[in-house]
Amino acid sequence: MQRAAVILAAGKGTRMKSELPKVLHKVCGRPMLDYVMEALKKAGIENIVIVAGHHGDMVAKNLPENVGIVDQHPQLGTAHALLQTKEKLEGFGGNLLVIGGDTPLITHLSLKNLLEYHENIGARATVLTADLADPGNYGRIIRESTGKVLKIVEQRDAGQEELTVQEINTGIYAFSGEGLFDALLEIKNNNAQKEYYLTDLIEKYVKAGLSVAAFKIKDSREILGINDRCQLAEVESIMRQRILTDLMLSGVTVVDPKNTFVDKDVEVGQDTTILPFTIIEGKSFIGPDCTIGPGAHLVDVQVGAGALIKNSIIMESSIGNNCNIGPFAYIRPGCVLEQGVKVGDFVELKKAKIGVKSKVPHLSYIGDTTMGSDVNIGAGTITCNYDGSNKWPTIIGNRAFVGSNTNFVAPVEIGSGAVIGAGSTITKNVPDNALSVARGRQKNIEGYNDKKTIKEKDL
Ligand code: UD1
Ligand code: CA
Repeated sequence: MQRAAVILAAGKGTRMKSELPKVLHKVCGRPMLDYVMEALKKAGIENIVIVAGHHGDMVAKNLPENVGIVDQHPQLGTAHALLQTKEKLEGFGGNLLVIGGDTPLITHLSLKNLLEYHENIGARATVLTADLADPGNYGRIIRESTGKVLKIVEQRDAGQEELTVQEINTGIYAFSGEGLFDALLEIKNNNAQKEYYLTDLIEKYVKAGLSVAAFKIKDSREILGINDRCQLAEVESIMRQRILTDLMLSGVTVVDPKNTFVDKDVEVGQDTTILPFTIIEGKSFIGPDCTIGPGAHLVDVQVGAGALIKNSIIMESSIGNNCNIGPFAYIRPGCVLEQGVKVGDFVELKKAKIGVKSKVPHLSYIGDTTMGSDVNIGAGTITCNYDGSNKWPTIIGNRAFVGSNTNFVAPVEIGSGAVIGAGSTITKNVPDNALSVARGRQKNIEGYNDKKTIKEKDL
């Protein structure tokens, strides 16, 4: 049987108090809408239509190829929203899954189970329901004494007895495409909100003698919707624990999952340990056997095997196998560190390529630099890469030895095996294997302080 899905996402999301459409707010580094699309895809649904309204142009950006989008203006309710997909789904005869774009915790398994249940019993409509201790403002599932589903009543429209029902409408449904849009057209808006309720379709089908079913979800946390930023944080915290659980089960040690923050698209290799207060964001990839943290913050970073990274910030860079970074290194975008590089405390790197086993152990700024292998950079070395209007490169050859407190005034090129005397300000290229010293000569004035010493003695 053909399957398609509609994601309802036209609501304004007023309670988010945001210029950004609600479904684009991020949960663990990804827009919440992405999670819903991914769950649908994993449940075997390729044909997806999103109903957008508020800032629909923003929602339409970067959608996968198989995802269509329709506009709903004005937003007159969930039945009206679904009706907007009529043209896009013209002639669709299979089963249609309908879901809100703000429930990112839903798993593909639950969606798959719902669809299979719906298909197996051949229902015209199946509602995914959940039992909640506090049913709040969810729609209530009203059943007959035999258990047969009769209707869904919105909290606003419910009577006293109906309000006590703890089985709620998750807002996720499977519908047979047959006759669906004709039935939607007949729905009225005679309710508390003057909206066209999709939930009214259930009662309508029951009254018409069509088969309606309910399927209860096992873990009701999956259907937590996001309406405000408190719920956003709540959902994010559940998602974060899911991500960390998956990592731990795949062989990563997470010492303190309550204080570790890893985005959805991060991959981590086996036997890597993540220490507390570490944040790994974006599309980052960490190899096996690394120790990351405590206090590491990585954004879009690739890390090879066996690296150590503590108390450092690294952005949009690549760190080779067995590198040793930190504490307190700041590696800005565009850096490539080859294998076995050491970058120590209070070192800032920007657009720097550092060759195999080179060391920048302390107190340096290295920017717009290409450095060979086995280079040693003394403490306090600075590349002066900016002349006030342009950035210039520094090139440092293999095995160069740079004394402490050196300034490289770029553009400048240091040959392989060159040695730079401590405290030099290098403004000209240095040939291979040369020693370069560029500082004021030391002058000693003998006896300069004798008078003062005598005076002090005399006192
Ligand atoms: C809806 C259900 C309720 C259920 C709850 C689950 C109805 C009438 N009620 O209530 O039974 O318990 O979801 O979360 O359906 N939307 C549009 N266009 C519109 C209105 C809404 O696209 O005109 C979208 C929203 O963006 C949202 C979804 O539909 O993704 C649900 O809308 P919302 O207004 O949040 O409905 P609820 O009052 O939560
Ligand atoms: Ca809602």
